[in-house]
Amino acid sequence: MVITVNKLPAETIEQIRKENNIVDIVGEYVQLKKKGNNYIGLCPFHQEKSPSFSVAEDKQIFKCFGCGKGGSVISFLMEIEGMPFQEALAYLAKKSGIDLPNINQNPQTLVSKEEQNALLASEWLAKLYNHLLKHAKDGKDGLQYILDRGITEETIGTFQIGYASDIPNFTADFLQKKGFHEQQLLEAGLLTRAQDHSLLDRFRGRVIFPIRNHLGKTIAFGGRAIYDQDPKYLNSPESELFQKNKILYNFDLAKKHIRKEHAVVLYEGYMDVIASYQANVKHCVATLGTALTEYQAALLKRYVDEVIICYDADSAGMNATYKAGLLLNKVGCNVKVANLPEGMDPDEYIRQYGENRYQDEVIAASDTFMAFLMTFLKRDYNLSLESDRLEYIEQVLTQLAMIDKSIEREYYLQELHEEFGITLTTLQAEVDKKRQTKRHKQQSNASTQSNHQHNHFITYKNALKPAYQNAERILIAYMLQDEMIAQKVQEKLGADFNIEAHQIIVTYLYAFYEEHSQMNIATFIEKLPDQALQQLTSEIAMIQKESEVTDQELADYIYIIQHKKQDQENVQTLRNKQKLAEQQNDPIKAAQIAMQILELEKQAKR
Ligand code: GTP
Ligand code: MN
Repeated sequence: MVITVNKLPAETIEQIRKENNIVDIVGEYVQLKKKGNNYIGLCPFHQEKSPSFSVAEDKQIFKCFGCGKGGSVISFLMEIEGMPFQEALAYLAKKSGIDLPNINQNPQTLVSKEEQNALLASEWLAKLYNHLLKHAKDGKDGLQYILDRGITEETIGTFQIGYASDIPNFTADFLQKKGFHEQQLLEAGLLTRAQDHSLLDRFRGRVIFPIRNHLGKTIAFGGRAIYDQDPKYLNSPESELFQKNKILYNFDLAKKHIRKEHAVVLYEGYMDVIASYQANVKHCVATLGTALTEYQAALLKRYVDEVIICYDADSAGMNATYKAGLLLNKVGCNVKVANLPEGMDPDEYIRQYGENRYQDEVIAASDTFMAFLMTFLKRDYNLSLESDRLEYIEQVLTQLAMIDKSIEREYYLQELHEEFGITLTTLQAEVDKKRQTKRHKQQSNASTQSNHQHNHFITYKNALKPAYQNAERILIAYMLQDEMIAQKVQEKLGADFNIEAHQIIVTYLYAFYEEHSQMNIATFIEKLPDQALQQLTSEIAMIQKESEVTDQELADYIYIIQHKKQDQENVQTLRNKQKLAEQQNDPIKAAQIAMQILELEKQAKR
């Protein structure tokens, strides 16, 4: 991928970068923890269980030692959002309130023309529906419905709740006047065809909940019937932009609250999220009428450890809680279950008992997933039968074995002991046995991964790399840090490094120092012509090194680098001689030369 630095003045780009700390931007996607000088977290670009993704705040760069991705805050956005350079810049500028001159809508954007149209049409529609609800005579019933459900005007604004008129071609007319073609609108799912093939608005006589993606762009709608219509909820059809199994409702607004609260509340319905947000439980999202998927669970895990499931307190809700809980456990979340009284849904509870009781008695009073499981599993058994009792205990122990905190395990074992009269020692022994099998499984899983893991461990620690390669990397690391060192190396070595990528990096580096009085790693990295070089440089910049380096050390590194070159040349000369000897039918001489080559290569390795 070639990054062409655009027409924007360098100072503007600098300013945008300065206003957008990489830790904050990455923090919107990855749960980061401070470790030493850097922040670490689970890499969003590949699947991993232990963090190898690192962000250096002082250098304003990131690097994953697992998959190799690395670069500046802009490269991060380009990678994670699939944004082209210009779009990433524009996005960051907007975030920090910097006005950009109108840069051309980039032709190389990754969102297709159709998708751009669909986005634009959805944006117009969201505004239209919202306007109708608030101001139009036609939207009166919708507004009344929403107000009756206790939604305030402010909340209507926050969620851009709207109303779709029941005039059959209202949307179609409006959007066609805006210049959209009917084919586009059909493809975007905003229009449908009636049985007689005439065009028809998809949403008619419904309260509308715009569905936004994590960047706040409206990508679909959910419409709730307010008259006697079926189905109760109608959603936009699936498309490339709107994939129900990947999207979480309200994720865009909830993100910052999730980070602040170190937890997320997971709901089943739009109305639950809206009521919750209004009740100041704002770290909340919902699935879109489908069961939680592993994709969504993993997405949440990237942001937060603790997930509070708050589904309807009925049989269907409990089943869904059970499934979602297991899935969230599997991806490593700490799962809790909200304490909703039997038969209620969150939205009803808030209406009936108010915000304070909801916060204190439902959310703050959440129980552990284990406690939920013990009650939940009981429903399947007749505990007056011994066989059922044993099976139930077996199930509970299996779940208990998954808990890593021994105190927590102990607690529930005690409970089982009291309820069923089985001795603690026996229960403990069973759990231990299960935990051991689990560990074996994990170990064999781990060993299939270990090759990969091993690899980046090596890159990171610089172990087992030939001496000259390490010398080059360390030298570049110092050159990135100190212009004086770069100058010295330039005089002694120029770009005469052995590894081609290093040659390119130092060439760019010398040019950079000529143009800039101060090093800025993130800026420098963006000047590099391809992604592999950017990633390599991010890695090198993160090498742990002493802050002071003596001239002697520098001289040593340079010596190693130069001699590698000489050795290489020597080996080449010898190889030629060897060939000659073979051609001249002198096997003894050829063998002697072969020995010399081996010896040289051995030295080089050392
Ligand atoms: P209200 O009745 O408005 O309070 O909605 P609710 O959130 O209590 O609805 P419910 O618990 O029945 O459903 C939860 C979620 O499932 C909704 O928010 C919708 O996303 C989805 N859903 C419910 N009914 C339907 C339906 O008929 N069709 C589709 N596609 N989704 C539905
Ligand atoms: Mn409801």
